[in-house]
Amino acid sequence: MSAPFDRSMTGEVSGDVGQDWAVSPQAGDEERVVESALRPHSLHDFIGQPKVARQLALVLEGAKRRGRPPDHVLLSGPPGLGKTSLALIIGSELGTAVKITSGPAIERSGDLAAMLSNLSPGDVLFIDEIHRIARPAEELLYMAMEDFRVDVVVGKGPGATAIPLEINPFTLVGATTRAGLLTGPLRDRFGFVGQMEFYETADLERVLARSADLLGVELTEEGSAEIAGRSRGTPRIANRLLRRVRDYAEVEADGRVTRAVAQAALALYDVDHLGLDRLDREVLEALVTKFGGGPVGVATLAVAVGEEPHTVEEVCEPFLVRAGLLARTPRGRVATEAAWRHLGLAVPRGGIPLGRVTADPPGAGSSSEPLFDA
Ligand SMILES: Nc1ncnc2c1ncn2[C@@H]1O[C@H](COP(=O)(O)OP(=O)(O)O)[C@@H](O)[C@H]1O
Ligand SMILES: [Mg+2]
Repeated sequence: MSAPFDRSMTGEVSGDVGQDWAVSPQAGDEERVVESALRPHSLHDFIGQPKVARQLALVLEGAKRRGRPPDHVLLSGPPGLGKTSLALIIGSELGTAVKITSGPAIERSGDLAAMLSNLSPGDVLFIDEIHRIARPAEELLYMAMEDFRVDVVVGKGPGATAIPLEINPFTLVGATTRAGLLTGPLRDRFGFVGQMEFYETADLERVLARSADLLGVELTEEGSAEIAGRSRGTPRIANRLLRRVRDYAEVEADGRVTRAVAQAALALYDVDHLGLDRLDREVLEALVTKFGGGPVGVATLAVAVGEEPHTVEEVCEPFLVRAGLLARTPRGRVATEAAWRHLGLAVPRGGIPLGRVTADPPGAGSSSEPLFDA
């Protein structure tokens, strides 16, 4: 048996999202049920993301005044920041139905054609993970987005004919964690692209206050600050940590989530004050103590902590890099000074060998160039 918050690979590469570690940005199956209870249902309820929220409010209001479906919307950003929530909010703000599917679920273009031709006027079609849509379906989508038309191919081989079919005007909302993987033609057909950002701690505290209300949890301001600071800028993680802390508060204390309760619970769950969990710290520790801070290849680093390279690469590294603790360089992974400090270790004398690793081609010394700016 693995420990309760041992983590498997993220869904980024393999496509599955069922995992149960405390600070994964992805949702497991059970979690999705809980999440739907905590989802904001209107732009008014949607906390933070001031830029995307305001831009989207204008897009929707303009469309309502013209009495036409708004432009197609692409929402891009890391998991757990509210893309699905916003897609559903678009439907409820417009007062239309939202049909939901996802890129990997659309295996044949015929499936997509059927879906598109079943849309009522003004419906929202939400395609999650749109970067994973199969190419033939994507091509069908071009015409649907632009001309509200699909070509239905009848027959096979040289005798096959394409019969154009009108579909009702609709709004496509696409969500992606990998905007860079979208093809140009698909990207160009979205009239509005919302780039979701990680949340400020203050916004996460508001998310937590709202969730605590909905869950009937008594959460003090200090308790909330404690959880928000460890949530990696991600509402999904904030909500998950709140639930774990609530369990602790109910079993080990009087049910109130105070700072002391939050600290004790999060220590028990191995989530440190930056939001790093056990594996994150093991990776950093190995890098610092076994490899002198690097540079070291990710495969070697993964062996040192007994994990798959791709778990280290996809699960730990993005946050370690964002937290300014680790840098990815052409020669391998390097710990930053902040990593030594975070582990409570003395930074090696003479600093860390960043100058050596900055240089891309060996010998091209550019020692003053900063490697990371976080
Ligand atoms: N702006 C927000 N305000 C309040 N709660 C949010 C917000 N964004 C996300 N959440 C919470 O986080 C959970 C995950 O959000 P979701 O929309 O599923 O993220 P994504 O689709 O980007 O992975 C939601 O269930 C919701 O409870
Ligand atoms: Mg989602």
